[in-house]
Amino acid sequence: MTDLHPDIKRILITEDEIQKRVAELAAEIDRDYQGADLVVLIGILKGAFIFTADISRKMTVPHTVDFMSISSYGDQAVFDGAVRLILDLRKPIADQHVIVVEDIVDTGHTMDYLYQTLQGRHPASLKTCTLFKKERNSLEVPLDYVGFDLPDVWVVGYGLDYADKHRTLPYIAELKKEVYS
Ligand code: PRP
Repeated sequence: MTDLHPDIKRILITEDEIQKRVAELAAEIDRDYQGADLVVLIGILKGAFIFTADISRKMTVPHTVDFMSISSYGDQAVFDGAVRLILDLRKPIADQHVIVVEDIVDTGHTMDYLYQTLQGRHPASLKTCTLFKKERNSLEVPLDYVGFDLPDVWVVGYGLDYADKHRTLPYIAELKKEVYS
């Protein structure tokens, strides 16, 4: 086994497990949208850039990919759930079949904001897809496609970061507590 980075405590989900689950989600989406002319995948930067690329390449239903970027207001200590849009879609989504693609749903604030914002643009349909979900979310929107449930620890890899580091690890790992506390 290769040595882990000193910030990493242990691997929670291996690369093989992730790739297998991504393929299953892509197959599920293909089944659900069979016969659709076009699906628009919206990847949420930065975290979802790897998942979006992988699931998109495994899907066979005709689709396009666009991106949005969202940021939370203020620092974590005073975070009250407010988010702001910092990069918007290139094209309107009215009358399109849209799937929002997230790497992780944690508190659920980001997905709630995205869902309300995109619903206001009158898509033909709107679904949500996240590879990882933590228990503590207070989501008001349904999650249609979910890859894995995660424990409430700081995780990195497969798009997820700590201070913008570790995003390109091919697996999901738990960060050592002393790194972030
Ligand atoms: C992460 C993740 C989700 C969001 C989920 O993004 O990619 O977009 O947090 O958290 P929530 O459910 O508590 O709202 P982050 O703000 O860390 O930005 P990044 O994707 O650019 O790393």
